[in-house]
Amino acid sequence: MAVDMKGKDLIAIHDLSREEVEQILDTAHILKMKQKLGEIYHPLKGKTLGMIFQKSSTRTRVSFEVGMFQLGGHALFLSANDLQLNRGETIADTARNLSRYLDGIMIRTFDHQDVVDLADYSSVPVINGLTDLLHPCQVLSDLFSISEKRQKLDGLKLVYIGDGNNMAHSLMFGGAKMGMHVVICSPSGFEPDPEITRLSRLDATRSGGTITIQDDPVEAVKTADIIYTDVWASMGQEDEHEKRLKSFSNYQVNSSLIENAQEDVLVMHCLPAHRGEEITDEVVDGPHSIVFDQAENRLHVQKAIMALVM
Ligand code: CP
Ligand code: NVA
Repeated sequence: MAVDMKGKDLIAIHDLSREEVEQILDTAHILKMKQKLGEIYHPLKGKTLGMIFQKSSTRTRVSFEVGMFQLGGHALFLSANDLQLNRGETIADTARNLSRYLDGIMIRTFDHQDVVDLADYSSVPVINGLTDLLHPCQVLSDLFSISEKRQKLDGLKLVYIGDGNNMAHSLMFGGAKMGMHVVICSPSGFEPDPEITRLSRLDATRSGGTITIQDDPVEAVKTADIIYTDVWASMGQEDEHEKRLKSFSNYQVNSSLIENAQEDVLVMHCLPAHRGEEITDEVVDGPHSIVFDQAENRLHVQKAIMALVM
């Protein structure tokens, strides 16, 4: 039976029920088919999404804006530099004002608490378009991409190699919710946040999944169904780039690492990739890679999210 998600915020996958995640994925499948068939479908006619960006974006901005257009609505790009937010207007007042004009707000920012506060003071749904802590829309799209390729999520082993960052955290939340075995393989000092680990292990207990933290990439990839990686220095960590290159040098996803994995392993990356750092050209462009399918699916899955909550 359909779950009513109207008015719901999307801040963390941990906050969603398994049924809600399944509903997002099922809706994305329908919307993707409609779009491929050229069918016009305008459930958000007359509605407007505001998109606040405090960090750069290619995929998130374009896929939300195009998605809103395809659903019959309108999207407004709101650069934080041009909002009064950057001149000291509070998040609370920004939320209260924007709620008077908009039907939904998507925000990409640094401090995760800002998204939580925005949602608390907003009367319209708030969608997290990435924070330093989480990137839920990316991972919901990734779950969709995996299920398209493998027709299931339950029981699959996803090995994430690299920084215990926003992507690692959301993969832990998403995988745990859907009964997957998530292995986070990070160098010492770059492990995921202990509270995210605790919460995702709680979810995994309920779903039959597992969350494992370890530090040996070769061992980790041996039975992986999916190998996932992300940049070593995320947005906002640019000044740590050189130092991180050294810490992560044994954590590159390259051909010799893939040789240890199963023949049909999928390789995933949220993009943008720093080719030659966390992943090599031959792997991003190689037969295991599904990175551009992942990028495309942002459109279909975010359309599903907007259609369900707005
Ligand atoms: N993966 C992702 O969120 O890409 P952008 O930073 O380009 O939006
Ligand atoms: N961890 C990366 C993800 C980009 C989509 C960052 O936050 O920069």
